[in-house]
Amino acid sequence: MLQAHRGPRRAARVAALAAIAAAAITVPTLASAHGRPDPSVAARHAIDGGHARNVIMFLGDGMGDSEITIARNYTQGAAGRLAMDSLPLTGEYTTYAVQQDDPTKPNYVTDSAASGTGWATGHKTYNNAISVTPDGSDVPTILELAQNAGYKTGDVTTAELTDATPAVLASHVPFRACQGPADMATCPLDTKQVGGPGSIAEQEVDHNVDVLLGGGKARFDQTVTGGPFAGLTVTAQAQAQGYTLVTDASSLAATTPKQKVLGLFTPGNMDLEWTGPLAQAFPAGTTPTACTASNPARPTTQPHLADMTRKAITLLDAKARHDRGGKAKHGKGFFLQVEGASIDKQDHASNPCGQIGETAAFDAAIAEGLAYAKKHPDTLVVVTADHGHTSQIVEYPQTDTHHSTGAIATLLTHDNAPMVVSYATNLVGQSQDHTGTEVRIAAQGPQAARVLGVTDQTDLFRTFKAALGLH
Ligand code: CO
Ligand code: CO
Repeated sequence: MLQAHRGPRRAARVAALAAIAAAAITVPTLASAHGRPDPSVAARHAIDGGHARNVIMFLGDGMGDSEITIARNYTQGAAGRLAMDSLPLTGEYTTYAVQQDDPTKPNYVTDSAASGTGWATGHKTYNNAISVTPDGSDVPTILELAQNAGYKTGDVTTAELTDATPAVLASHVPFRACQGPADMATCPLDTKQVGGPGSIAEQEVDHNVDVLLGGGKARFDQTVTGGPFAGLTVTAQAQAQGYTLVTDASSLAATTPKQKVLGLFTPGNMDLEWTGPLAQAFPAGTTPTACTASNPARPTTQPHLADMTRKAITLLDAKARHDRGGKAKHGKGFFLQVEGASIDKQDHASNPCGQIGETAAFDAAIAEGLAYAKKHPDTLVVVTADHGHTSQIVEYPQTDTHHSTGAIATLLTHDNAPMVVSYATNLVGQSQDHTGTEVRIAAQGPQAARVLGVTDQTDLFRTFKAALGLH
């Protein structure tokens, strides 16, 4: 009987495949998948064991392989490529945290704080920890080590500057919630009034990072509770310590390398780049819809991530060059972290267009970094994520008994084809969860080959140290 069925079914499959192949020929973007250059040539040229003058790290929050593929399908087509896809050396890294009560055991699903502590310090820690180990010790960060060695430093994000990823580089607190001086309920031993280092906002300013750009002005407008700046806001403290405060794109553009820059462009997270339908429970969400590649609610005075990245690179490069002519150590450039933060936040919100718009804006920022690295090949560029997230590309729902149990949205992509995106790590309408998958890490420049194979997020700290010649 099986034998009898095989013939017609096989014939039907062949016919279906032929139809797909015929359709593919008519779509130029799919045809372009053929004839790409042999990557082994680029890989051989890319293996460089020397020292880097500069490191630029791009961190897509929650940007797992699904999030990259969704953004690629939508903006470039399935056979297209993003700027981040052009880095020649690619590996995967594991992201797990450890349990706070028993650090010998993994917590398979990390948050941005524990994952960030991992790549920023080389130490595994518990979820919520900002560059402290499970026993409560502060551990040095790559930004601190680079700064002590004479490199210029920058920290850029689309989230609040006190959010986990920017925080892990320039502060140490046991709980990520301790963002401003009024947010210290869970960090009573760290407040300035008891002689502690203060909140994340205070520590970032006290750390003297050369360029700080992002959202979160409301945290910096809270009042310092102790020490020489008690009674001032953190923003006023920063100005007293020599920072130039900028709050819109034009004043950012006007800053010069002589200035230390604190850019706070909105009270909370920066506004989204794109809008579109939220994912919904089946049978809703099945009509193919395009995203709106803009957001009318986003103030035009707010810089885009690519603008902030380009300006940060220009300022840091010039600051380092200026120092080279003077007293500073020869040949040392800068360490810059750039975070695309709201990929994660819109994944939590089951908002595929928001998520894609943030991934596209992050990719545009990466293109700025790659353009700089093309002229300055002594730059290590790393593109990675801190953890996986919810969104998955799934089949178009066929029947009442064959569809995602989560929220779905069907997007009409660059290929003019429907792409169904499913959010199903929590109940429909609730905040979706991170996942414990390994994620992509891609690199180019000195020491980039260290990302090859399967590594762990803590290995990235050692890659940075090797590239910058730190011990
Ligand atoms: Co994260
Ligand atoms: Co998240």
